[in-house]
Amino acid sequence: MECQGLIVPTTPYEDQRPGTSGLRRKTRRFMQPHYVENFVQSIFDSVREEGAPDFSGETLVVGGDGRYHNREAIQSILKIAAANGFGRILVGRGGLLSTPAMSAVIRRRGALGGILLTASHNPGGAGADFGIKYNIRNGGPAPEGVTERIYAHTRVIERFLTLEAPGVDLDREGTVRLGDAEVAVIDPISDYVAVLGGIFDFDALRGLFRDGFRLVFDAMNGVTGPYGRAILEGMLEAPEGTVIRGTPLEDFGGGHPDPDRRHAGELFRRMSLPDAPDMGAACDGDGDRNMILGRGIFVSPGDSLAVIAQHAAGCIPGYGSGLRGVARSMPTSTAVDRVARALGVPCYETPTGWKFFGNLMDSGRCTLCGEESFGTGSDHVREKDGIWAVLCWLSILAGDRASVGETLLGHWRRFGRSYFQRHDYAGLDAAQAARMMDELRGHVPSLAGTRLADAAVRDADDFSYTDPVDGSVSRNQGIRILLDDGSRIVGRLSGTGTEGATLRLYFERVRPEGGLPLEETLAPLVEAARGLFRIEERFGRTSPSVVT
Ligand code: G1P
Ligand code: ZN
Repeated sequence: MECQGLIVPTTPYEDQRPGTSGLRRKTRRFMQPHYVENFVQSIFDSVREEGAPDFSGETLVVGGDGRYHNREAIQSILKIAAANGFGRILVGRGGLLSTPAMSAVIRRRGALGGILLTASHNPGGAGADFGIKYNIRNGGPAPEGVTERIYAHTRVIERFLTLEAPGVDLDREGTVRLGDAEVAVIDPISDYVAVLGGIFDFDALRGLFRDGFRLVFDAMNGVTGPYGRAILEGMLEAPEGTVIRGTPLEDFGGGHPDPDRRHAGELFRRMSLPDAPDMGAACDGDGDRNMILGRGIFVSPGDSLAVIAQHAAGCIPGYGSGLRGVARSMPTSTAVDRVARALGVPCYETPTGWKFFGNLMDSGRCTLCGEESFGTGSDHVREKDGIWAVLCWLSILAGDRASVGETLLGHWRRFGRSYFQRHDYAGLDAAQAARMMDELRGHVPSLAGTRLADAAVRDADDFSYTDPVDGSVSRNQGIRILLDDGSRIVGRLSGTGTEGATLRLYFERVRPEGGLPLEETLAPLVEAARGLFRIEERFGRTSPSVVT
């Protein structure tokens, strides 16, 4: 296709600093003139500056979770990428690529990087949220050094490069030329399936379904619908109807595509019925989060990570030679730490956000990692991976011929149980919330040695992380209060919100027995946090907006 290259003058937006997971804003903000273009050009300018001056031999991958504005953003990104000289651009058919599939495609195709259009589990639509995330050559989210450089470029940008050209037909697989670039519309599923095929024993999983195992997989009208249908109902021969809400919708059917008790209510209901299926699972809008349920049982994400770590070598061929190490984000429960100790492998504690796991995996220090926010994954890609987690659980259940409940009880019996809950206070005044964190940062170290919630405070600080691979330091990653009985209170501000501030409080109490009531067990910690954070006094809030 003959197209005219254009240099379009532009002026900076002040608010393009990426957060925990890319640049996330209201969709309308993204729809402002040049908002997408500025950010994308800044990505390329910053990559070029970092030593990849010539893109002509490079591949870029583009795709998203199918939310409102996905296709429009992709069309402009294709043109900007072509005008910036990329030799080859891969885009998922229909503009779709789940976040883990993006990671798989980047790695398998040796791409320079990828641009993901997603605001993950945030709602979609003109009045909701949109996001752009840049992933680097290892397939993982750009680390902070890179996102900060991109941000610096957004502050001074004066022009972007694009082409005058008709849009690419995203629904037809095949190759077209756009300026000097070759744009290939690819099947969004096959690279991902090839990666999973190297880990799991699909025959054994087929056997499980052949024996009558019943699964309900809730795709929440996000991107995992087509993946779930192809993998679970197609390759693994689970009965049709196993995948519910399987069609990707621009507004996710009006809900939050977030796999938790509140937003996957129908799945919870089904799993509590007398004739409930054997396992329930859900993924978020872009397919990196997962929730696992048994009959009448919820598997807390920290437990899920620990159970997968415990059984990986025995039940999943891809991990048959054992784990090199495990990692979890700081607020995530310490259940996996105990498994790591038993396995004799290191356990790393990182700040919140998947990007911190990349270096650990690239350097061969860690095989499995996870976060309390329904994220689990391994070094097969560099993102958390919802469907992978579902296949892990299926493999464990197939291997041990046990139910989800029995598996969980077995874990608690051997390792004790981390009772865990997260309380979110959303929509707080951002300045006031920042002040609170400043005050606490100064105050908490003095708590060491005092008594709190029936235990002594062993240590209290604002978590700081030194990356063992590149030595980079990330400070102010969350207030931690560690008690000598293994209990913890953690408080941090969300880095993914698009309005005001969200305070997240995390509570963990470790007990040898598995059957205590959750709320009661955590109550003393919740009470202690009330006094420490003074939420009612500062914000007039008496209870959290969400409890997970
Ligand atoms: C949240 C989660 C975090 C996760 C991120 C992206 O970030 O807490 O674990 O990595 O979403 O999915 P937060 O809003 O807490 O900064
Ligand atoms: Zn997500």
